This record gives sequence, C-alpha cells and structure tokens, in this order.
Amino acid sequence: MAMLIGVPRETAAGEKRVATVPDVVEKLRKLGFAVAVETGAGDAANFADDTYRAAGAEVVASAAELFAKADIVFKVRPPSAAEVALLREGAVLIGFVWPAQHPELMQQLAARKATVLAIDSLPRQLSRAQKMDALTSMAGISGYRAVIEAANAFGRFFNGQITAAGKVPPAKVFIAGAGVAGLAAIGTAANLGAIVRANDTRAEVADQVVSLGGEFVKVDYEEEGSGGGGYAKVMSEGFQQAQRDMYAQQARDADIIITTALIPGKPAPKLITAEMVRTMKPGSVIVDMAAEQGGNCELTEPGQAVVRHGVTIIGYTDLASRLAKQASTLYSNNLLRLTEELCKTKDGVVDVNMDDDAIRGLTVIKDGTVTWPPPPLKLPAPPPAAKAGAMPPPAPKGHGHGSGAPMSARSLAIVFGLGALAFLVVGLYAPASFLSHFTVFVLACFVGYMVVWNVTPALHTPLMSVTNAISSIIAIGALVQVAPPLTGADAGRPSGLILGLAVFALTLTAINMFGGFAVTRRMLAMFRK
Ligand code: NAI
Repeated sequence: MAMLIGVPRETAAGEKRVATVPDVVEKLRKLGFAVAVETGAGDAANFADDTYRAAGAEVVASAAELFAKADIVFKVRPPSAAEVALLREGAVLIGFVWPAQHPELMQQLAARKATVLAIDSLPRQLSRAQKMDALTSMAGISGYRAVIEAANAFGRFFNGQITAAGKVPPAKVFIAGAGVAGLAAIGTAANLGAIVRANDTRAEVADQVVSLGGEFVKVDYEEEGSGGGGYAKVMSEGFQQAQRDMYAQQARDADIIITTALIPGKPAPKLITAEMVRTMKPGSVIVDMAAEQGGNCELTEPGQAVVRHGVTIIGYTDLASRLAKQASTLYSNNLLRLTEELCKTKDGVVDVNMDDDAIRGLTVIKDGTVTWPPPPLKLPAPPPAAKAGAMPPPAPKGHGHGSGAPMSARSLAIVFGLGALAFLVVGLYAPASFLSHFTVFVLACFVGYMVVWNVTPALHTPLMSVTNAISSIIAIGALVQVAPPLTGADAGRPSGLILGLAVFALTLTAINMFGGFAVTRRMLAMFRK
C-alpha cells in the first residue's frame, strides 16, 4: 500500500519555511506516495493551500489529523514534545533533528517506535549525498541573506560610485570563516561591488575565496587548520593570538564584518572582541552567523540586532527562514532526493536500507532503536600527511598511474629483449615497406605513451582536444588532391568529384583543427588562476 507523506505547519516561533512545496508534491506523487499538507503550512513561504491542492495534495484541517494519517512526516525544525506525542507509532520522521543537542527528544522519538532520518546527520563527505545536503543549501541561502541584512543596516552603497553629487568609496567587507555560508556571503558581497576580504583557518579554501571575487587574508603564523572532512580544528594558542592581531587590524579597516566560523560540536570561536568592536567605524555592521552556537563576536545577542559602540551587531538565527520561499524550495528538493533514494522501486513505499552509507549516516533512530552515532564511514584513505623525519622515499616520476610497484630492472630487460626479438622476426620476414611503416608506428606508440602518461590526469581532456586538433594534419591529403602534381602521369586538373570530396574533407578538418584548438584554449583557461 502506498504510504502517505504528511507535511505539518512548522510550529517553532518565527519559522516561515515549509518542508514541501507544491512542485515537489507532484514529484512525490510520481514516486507513488500520497501527500497531505496541514492547512496554512505554506502560507509564510507564499505557498497557498490551493497550490498544494492543485498539485494533488490533500489539505487537512489540523496537525492532529495530519499526524494521525501520516506514515511519513516531513518537517523542517526538530519536532516539539507536542508534535512527538501526535506522531503515529512506527511512523518515519524526516527533518532537522540535531541528535547531539537534543538527547531528550531522541528518547521521546524512540519511545514512539519511530524511524527518524536526521537530515543534519547526512554524511556530507559522500559525493552521492550532495543532492540531499540540506545543511549546505540552507547555509548558502543564509550566507546570501547575511549580506542582505548587513546592506539593510549599513548606511552606504556597497559599490564605489562617482556621481555628480560626489565620490562614494566601495564598502569593505571582511568575512571570517569561508565554509559554505562564508563563500556564499563572499560571492554576494563581491557581486554587490564591495571590496571583500576573507580569512579561514583552512588554507585550502584560499582559491575558492579568490574565485568568488574575494581576497584571502592569511594569519601570519604557520599552522594547518584542516581537521578532516572539510571541517576545521581548534587552533593552537600561538595561532589564535596571531589571528586576533590580524582581526583587530581588519576590524579597524572594514565597514562590514560577517562571521561564520565554526568547528562542529564546539562552541563558536570568539574572534571579534568587544575591544575590536569599539575600534570599528560608527555605522559599521557585524552579522554574526554563529550566534546560535555562542557567537563569534563577544557582544552578539542571539536572535537580535543590537547597537554597541555605534556598530549594529546582527545575531539572527533564522537567516534561511527569512528567505522562506527559496529555502523551502531547496529544502524540499533535498528531501525529494532523499525520498528517491529511499524508494528506488517508485511504488510509494520507503525502504530504510541500513547497508547504504548515506542512509545509515542519517538514520538516527530505526524502529524505536537509537542508531546514532553511526559507525565511522569507510572512506578511501587520504594521502598520508608528510611528517618531518618520516618522509616516504620519492616515487619514481612517470609511474604514477600504474597500480603496482614499478618494474624491476630484470623484468624491464626481459620485456625489451622480447620486443627486440619480435622486431627482428618482423624485419627478417616482412616486406621492406612494411618495416619502415611499422618502425614509425612503434615509435609513435612509445612517444604517445610517454606524453599522455606524463600529463596530469586533470589535463587529459584538453590533451585529447589538442590531439584531435593536431590530427587534422590529414588536411594535407585533401590539399594534395585539390592541387595534383603539375608534371608526370597525374598532371592536370582533378576530376570534379575528387575536387568536391577534397574540399569537403578540407572543411571538415578545418572545423576539427580550429574547433580543437579553441576548445583546448577554453579548457586550459579554466585551470588558469
Ligand atoms: P562550515 O563548517 O562550512 O564553515 C565554517 C567555517 O569556519 C569553516 O570553513 C572553518 O574552517 C571556519 N573556521 C573554523 N574556525 C575558524 C577560526 N578560528 N577562524 C577562521 N575560520 C574558522 O559551516 P557553514 O555551513 O558555512 O555555517 C557557518 C555558520 O553559520 C555556522 O555557525 C552555522 O551554524 C551558521 N548558520 C547560521 C544560520 C543562521 O540563520 N544564523 C543558518 C545557517 C548556518
């Protein structure tokens, strides 16, 4: 029997998002599910009941009725105790749960014998999980909104302008933490025309900052900040001091600071001190995205915008909900992708397959049994970090693609010996013209092998296109046909048919040649900084 997906109205104060939008209702129905939505669930995100009805959902009058029907409940925020009480025994709940922060809720849900899929616990490292990654989609929206909130509180343009009424300097925006939210903020602020600088403890994000139009500001202290899985680690005291000095300098210079620095499971690092706020220009703005985890700024009040020392400090914790329509659309797409993974048979029945790494990771309760935390993921081992004094011997160049060890000198000699023998046999018995062609062929194979194998795999595609362009050397054949020798037996004009074919061949090779080079140029441009 097809299962029914229920979408209640969110009850958390100020929450405007809804877990499913009408477009997604249609797609869920195509997967075989029935969908019921509580009346008014989409109102705050501008999705009226009628649009759900038009998409084929049933609109029910109350949460009680909805929960009583639903085999599967789609939510945004973790359920309240009252909602858990309404949940049918054995139902499936999908939404944000944050199991580490809500042990009591976990017990209540387990007591309902529920199966709970916490979208926040999705193993984000798996590339297959990206389409379901609601943390990323919500953080992207929040980063954008943080800039818009800052612009709203800031009394000037973001871009520099020269007008008849005077010259306006561009705003200077400093972004602390270039994770998902930080990068979205960098892109948005740069697009508005501000001068954007950013810092992160993970050096690997520097290129991403630059590609979005920002400038990466380094802390003058050597320490790698990557803690694995794309997250940061807690830094040493020496680093933190050097970072404070740099931030103090940026605070004096910046008009807007947006902080997003966070290490999962840790209180947010205090990066902007009260003293730094005091040194900022009056009218400046700080948006502290980490407000909910204690804030990156000492003076942040979570959930509020306050003015301290003439600086507006915004600590809103509902940035994604402030862009409710967009956030609901992306969130419900994430849930749709998850549902597709859960219902590969498209028969309206979910199968929570605990052997699937992605599903295992986000299933925090299975039929009333708490299954969180999940066992560590078996990801391919990262390349070993080079430690001082424990350097592995350098690998011989040019053999990076083979799976085994490089050939020993003896086996190499045997291979070459056999090759030479085969060549001798061919030389003795094959006609002379074959031998010269064969020699060229063997050399070409050898040169081709050496060239291709010594090029970084990432550059193989442009290499293919340039090779394709070079292969247009066959144009020479067509050229010879167009203009045959002036003397000898073949002298004279070529026949119309041959001429036509030759011109046709020339056109094709020209496309191949110029197209190949043009494509290669464009591909290589992607690798250039
Ligand atoms: P993320 O983990 O992708 O990014 C955090 C970044 O901070 C990482 O790049 C990390 O390397 C960096 N970082 C950690 N410690 C640092 C330090 N001491 N100095 C400089 N950089 C440091 O997280 P994401 O998804 O970008 O979220 C960022 C923050 O925004 C989090 O606090 C998250 O809870 C919050 N958030 C807030 C929302 C709101 O409505 N206020 C909505 C969505 C996210």
